[in-house]
Amino acid sequence: MSQIIRAAFCGAGGIVRGNHLPNLEIRPEQYAVAGFYDLFADKAEEMAKGKYKVYTSYEELLSDDTVDLVVIATKPLSTHFTAAKQALEAGKHVLLEKPMAETVAECDELIALAKQNNRTLTVHHNRRLDLDFLSLQSVIAQGKLGDVRLIENRVMYNNYEPSDLVDWGVHLVDQSLVLNNSKLTEVSTVIAYPGKGMEDGGYFDATLRFAEGPAVRVAMLPRPNECIINGTPPLARFYAIGTKGSFVQRIIEDPRDLLNATQNFDNAHPEYKVPDFLKVIQKGYYDYLYETLTQGKSLLVKPEEARNAMRLIELISDSAKTNCTVKASGMISVS
Ligand SMILES: NC(=O)c1ccc[n+]([C@@H]2O[C@H](COP(=O)([O-])OP(=O)(O)OC[C@H]3O[C@@H](n4cnc5c(N)ncnc54)[C@H](O)[C@@H]3O)[C@@H](O)[C@H]2O)c1
Repeated sequence: MSQIIRAAFCGAGGIVRGNHLPNLEIRPEQYAVAGFYDLFADKAEEMAKGKYKVYTSYEELLSDDTVDLVVIATKPLSTHFTAAKQALEAGKHVLLEKPMAETVAECDELIALAKQNNRTLTVHHNRRLDLDFLSLQSVIAQGKLGDVRLIENRVMYNNYEPSDLVDWGVHLVDQSLVLNNSKLTEVSTVIAYPGKGMEDGGYFDATLRFAEGPAVRVAMLPRPNECIINGTPPLARFYAIGTKGSFVQRIIEDPRDLLNATQNFDNAHPEYKVPDFLKVIQKGYYDYLYETLTQGKSLLVKPEEARNAMRLIELISDSAKTNCTVKASGMISVS
């Protein structure tokens, strides 16, 4: 019989209901849900539905010897560090929702603590498994574009809050650091929303330069009004330009969009077949984590990567505030 990982939740809100819990419940051969703790007991009870345990304190959850993994999905962000620290000190593996922690120093402390206690620490950068992102990576890996020089990675929505620079932006910068994992050298940010500053909205448009490989332009932009009417974002989710061709990847919000969403491949390479990567997408975040916890496989999202994503958010802010290109200091190597 395969090993079952018992997971307990700190925080029982929207992301647990919509993502974590269903993903655990469809993997009974890998995971069992131990129970829930939330600052508000009624939220934990509602999530547990009488089926799972409701812990009356976080200490009670952490002292439950049957729990292997603590999934921390709390808001606000200031709660992540303490909850993760306590769980690691209690000898639990930790899956922390993104953003990892409020400061880079806190991220570093958690990484050190996980090493010290020989526990797995990872962050839920689940957008690594987005279909549009995987499709782009697949095209690049197949060499269809030749030597890739520029990749654009953007989302376009309206009504971003200032906190979305971190909340949403961290997904995009994490993806960008996967697209080019060589040494980041420079960051240059432009505020995209005319008349507004960083404090007024989460919009940004930053160019990342690396020691080698493509520059990555990463952006969260407002969507022009006329595009809301016909529902079509004017610019693609990803755009990559290489020495042999270019590739436009539209947003994929539903797997059924897959074939339509990826047709805009440069005519030079009509032979690209989308289903090439369908095998990969059937594997979920929790499958990767299971392989790490039970077979010692490398983490899908290493804590150092999540930490560097937070540092990159700081660099993007620094460049915006100073209106200058900034050197990419303070990034760490990922083993
Ligand atoms: N990966 C993704 O795609 C994704 C999507 C949405 C949200 N998130 C992240 O998930 C986290 C939670 O977001 P949400 O949308 O579920 O928020 P939410 O507000 O719906 O739920 C958060 C829950 O945490 C509880 N809480 C707050 N402080 C606590 C504490 N100290 N101990 C125990 N419980 C506490 C709150 O009572 C609330 O029930 C955030 O970090 C958010 O950025 C990730």
